[in-house]
Amino acid sequence: MEIELTINDEPTTVTVESDDDLATVLRRNGYTGVKCGCDSGVCGASKVFVDGEVKMACGVNAQSADGAEVETIEALGTQDDLHPIQEAFVDHFAVQCGFCIPGMIIEAKSLLETNPDPTEAEVRQAIDDNLCRCTGYQKPVEAILDAADRMRGDRSVAADGGSRIDSRRPDDTAYDGDSNE
Ligand code: FES
Ligand code: FES
Repeated sequence: MEIELTINDEPTTVTVESDDDLATVLRRNGYTGVKCGCDSGVCGASKVFVDGEVKMACGVNAQSADGAEVETIEALGTQDDLHPIQEAFVDHFAVQCGFCIPGMIIEAKSLLETNPDPTEAEVRQAIDDNLCRCTGYQKPVEAILDAADRMRGDRSVAADGGSRIDSRRPDDTAYDGDSNE
């Protein structure tokens, strides 16, 4: 059957099978920033906004999304014009293999829209269902806190790529290439 979706502000008609999930349909239509990791709603890689709420797209039946407004990572920024959250992830070396990052950034955007000045604990809680096998979470958390500062216009912390993580290991002040920290 055909369903109507508005994807990243573009009204679109897509063909779906009865058992298609939304992640599969989005990827089939070119939105490959949506990642499929577990395919069972536990890793967070397939997170997108559906009607303004973060959903794991692998767990959304595509037919049931008929008429929905969907926002994927592709809506946030471009290579030449990154969203402040993406920019902060790059500046903090928070991206390693990158597979989990679209879902994590979607969740971060949701958090910062409702809580522009989160604590470290609130950031960690927000991404607690975004599984990352590379970063150990420290740098993504730093990046999201920095992005919050940037988005509020407080560049005093962000400008030097600094961190306002409260309890950091003494040697954790710069990227050291260790993917298992
Ligand atoms: S692929 Fe959807 S949550 Fe893991
Ligand atoms: S950066 Fe590789 S899984 Fe998160």
